[in-house]
Amino acid sequence: MPSPKLYSIEDFDLKDQKVFIRTDFNVPVEEGKVEEHIRLKSALPTIQYALENKAKVIIGSHRGRPEKNNKKNFSLEPFGYYLGNKLNCEVLFVEDIDSVIPSILLSSLNHKKIILLENLRFHTGEEAGDISWAEKLASYVDIYINEAFSVSHRDHTSVMVLPQKVKKRGLGFSMQKERETLDYIRKNSPAPFVLLAGGVKVGDKVKVISRLVDRLDTILIGGVMAYTFLKAKGVYTGAAFIQKESLGMAEEFINRLKIRGKKLLLPIDHVVVPVANRQSPPQITDGVEIPEGFCPMDIGPKTVELFSKALTGAGTVFWNGPFGKFEDSSFAKGTLAMCESIAQCDDAFKVVGGGDSIAAVFKLNKQECFNYISTGGGAALKYLEQGTLPGIHSLLS
Ligand code: 3PG
Repeated sequence: MPSPKLYSIEDFDLKDQKVFIRTDFNVPVEEGKVEEHIRLKSALPTIQYALENKAKVIIGSHRGRPEKNNKKNFSLEPFGYYLGNKLNCEVLFVEDIDSVIPSILLSSLNHKKIILLENLRFHTGEEAGDISWAEKLASYVDIYINEAFSVSHRDHTSVMVLPQKVKKRGLGFSMQKERETLDYIRKNSPAPFVLLAGGVKVGDKVKVISRLVDRLDTILIGGVMAYTFLKAKGVYTGAAFIQKESLGMAEEFINRLKIRGKKLLLPIDHVVVPVANRQSPPQITDGVEIPEGFCPMDIGPKTVELFSKALTGAGTVFWNGPFGKFEDSSFAKGTLAMCESIAQCDDAFKVVGGGDSIAAVFKLNKQECFNYISTGGGAALKYLEQGTLPGIHSLLS
């Protein structure tokens, strides 16, 4: 039996075919205006290619982690205007993804008219691997294209189940580029390999970093996730957010690194504010402990110095996740300083991945300093570990 093959969008005749393109539009929207973001930009060539080749395009994406009472904040409606502008076409926004899309509407699609579905995560089936919902979506589709690298490590319906229900399925251009570059790094990652991890998704990241440990030499952890590690080490963390269910995992991780002789650095000082009045001027702690009633918002200057020194002589640097609440300028210093320090690692192969880290890179205009900017953080780490992702595996045919 021939081994399963991975196709790309270019392998298919798209003319008059209903092509579902799974994208990642998980990007900030300010006052109804979609922020220009590498995730959006990198999906456009695939959509453009489909339109030029006379496909009938249906776009599906997730955005954020919506819950019942905050759905409005995560609507994809503003993206209709963005896409219409960029692709010079009419965008029909399908708000009720549970409703049946009339076949007359599907057949009216053309290179000047596409469908954008509302946030797929508004449907309870999306995160539940719902086969009947996948079958319903598949009934509108002739060809499935995955252009959502950053969510391809998830076993969500539109990423893992839907492609299995569509005969013709393949990768978009940006997905191909992600695979090629991360495959290259898997084969050639000059030592020492330094991983900088920040952000909030502690459980997600610890699992994947744990499995990557043998490839890494030094791990620097900052951002919200650092406090779960500090707590696991017995440090007093004041009013920092601790992911209690990940404490055990963090402790195991610390021990594991010790046994393997790997270097783990955690913050040694912090920028904090009193919980009772978060608007009051930020303070810097003397040491690693966070005073009672204070909440950490950024890494402190001594931590920046420590982390920056640890980058000296790095052969490969991978950065995922901010080191503080960098979207607020009072707490952006640590993340921006680390971005600057990475950019100065002239001899290293430098990769940044994940929405917030990318935003920091663009804010500093340092994109030219990185050898590669991946649209995904957790997904890129998992790909480095496994050489594939569930969302890629399910495209094999
Ligand atoms: C991201 O922002 O990293 C991707 O869009 C995936 O989002 P998720 O972590 O909510 O699945």
